[in-house]
Amino acid sequence: MGKLAIHGGEKAITRPLARPWPERDEREEQALAEVVRSGIWWRGGYANAADSQVGRFEDAFARFHDAKYCIAVTNGTQAIECALKAAGIEAGDEVLVPALTFVASATAIALVNAVPVFVDVDANTYNIDPDAMEAAITERTRAAVVVHNGGYPCDMDRILEIAKRRGIAIIEDCAHAHASQWKGVGVGALGSLGTFSFQMGKTLTCGEGGAVLTNDPELAEKAYSFHHIGRISGRPFYEFHRVASNLRMTEFQGAILLSQLSRLEEQTARRERNATYLAKGLKEIPGVDPIERDPRVTRWGFYYLNLCYRQEEFDGVPRDRFLQAIQAEGVPMAVGAHGQPIYRNPLFQSMNFGRTGCPVRCPLYGKPVDYTKTVCPTAERVHATQALSLPHALFLGETTEEMDLILDAIRKVRAHADELRS
Ligand SMILES: Cc1ncc(COP(=O)(O)O)c(C=O)c1O
Repeated sequence: MGKLAIHGGEKAITRPLARPWPERDEREEQALAEVVRSGIWWRGGYANAADSQVGRFEDAFARFHDAKYCIAVTNGTQAIECALKAAGIEAGDEVLVPALTFVASATAIALVNAVPVFVDVDANTYNIDPDAMEAAITERTRAAVVVHNGGYPCDMDRILEIAKRRGIAIIEDCAHAHASQWKGVGVGALGSLGTFSFQMGKTLTCGEGGAVLTNDPELAEKAYSFHHIGRISGRPFYEFHRVASNLRMTEFQGAILLSQLSRLEEQTARRERNATYLAKGLKEIPGVDPIERDPRVTRWGFYYLNLCYRQEEFDGVPRDRFLQAIQAEGVPMAVGAHGQPIYRNPLFQSMNFGRTGCPVRCPLYGKPVDYTKTVCPTAERVHATQALSLPHALFLGETTEEMDLILDAIRKVRAHADELRS
C-alpha cells in the first residue's frame, strides 16, 4: 500500500464519496408548482385541513411511524418545545437529557422554563444510559428527552419500564432517526411523544421543518393547540386558550415532504444495505468497530453512522491521529456529528441564562444549578477518544463501491499505523 496521504502520498479516494442530498427530481418541482398554482399557501386555506398538503403529510407520516397523530411544525427544536409543553412541563420541573446530542435537545427544555439535567451515555451506542437516567430522577423530574443518537434507537424497553415505574414522560427526539424501528414499531410512537426535524441535512427534509407524533389523543390536542397560537380544534377561529406561538408549516413544505416521504423507505433500505456491508468489512479490521446491532432494532434509519474507535486495538494510534490520516485519504469521517458533550458549550459553562437566570436560577425551582460542575465520564471519554461517524449521504449508492473505498482507506491507514504512533 502506498504512502499515507497525510505524509505526502496519493489519496486512497480521489472523488467525493457523498451522494447529492437531498435526492430530488421533477416530482418535487411538480408538487411545488401545484401549490403555487393553487394559490393556497397555508393549510388553513382548506375547508378541511386534512385535505391540505400539510394535512396529507401528517397523515402519511403518522402511519409511516406507527403513530395515531402527527402535528407538523416549523422545525425540530420547536417540535421538542411543543412536545414538552403538551406533556405539561413548566418552570420548576427537571427534564433529563443525554450529554451527547445536538444542543437543541437541551435548549428546548430551557425554552419551556424547565431545567435540563444532563445524563451520561452508553459507551457502545452513545444513547442515554438507562441506569444513569434512572439514577438522575429526583422528586422534580417530570420527563426525559431521549435522543436516538445518529438514528440508532435507544433501549426503549428499559426506558419505558423506568418511565412507567417512576412516573415520568418520555419525549423521543427522533431528529436523526426517520424510519428507525424498535421491535417493529416506528420510533417516535413509543414514548409519550416523539419529535422530528426536517432540516436540510436530515434524512427526510423540506429545508426546515419538524413534527410531533403521539398516540395519545389528549397530548395530540394539546400539541395541536400549542402549535396553533392556543386554538382548540372545533372551537371558533378567534378564540384562544393557551399562551402559544405559531409553529405552523407552509403548504410548500408539506408538498415537498409528501414527495420526499415517498422515497424514504427505499432510501433507508439502501443505507441499511450499505451499512451492513461496511460493518461486515470492519469486523475484519481491528480497532474501528461498528455498533453491534441489537436484534430489537428492526429498521435502522440513520442520519450518521456511529463507529467506535479502539486505540489499543489500532496499534496504539490515538483516535485524533487516525482521524487526521483517514480524512487525508478522502473519507469524510468525523467525531460524531455534534461534537463535545453539550454541557461544555459556553451557554452552560457561563450560565448565560439572561438577567433573571431563569429557568435555572428560578424561585420556582429553588435549587442551585452549576453546569460547570457537570461531568458525564462516559460521554467525555467517548467524545475524546472513541467516537467516529460517517454521514448518511455516503450510504446512498446502489452498489457497495463507496463502502469498499472506505474499507480500503481504513486498511491503508492501519497498514501504516506505526508511522502514526510516532
Ligand atoms: C438531536 C437533534 N435534536 C433537535 C434538532 C433540532 O432540529 P432543527 O434544526 O430542525 O431545529 C437537531 C438538529 O440537528 C438534532 O440533531
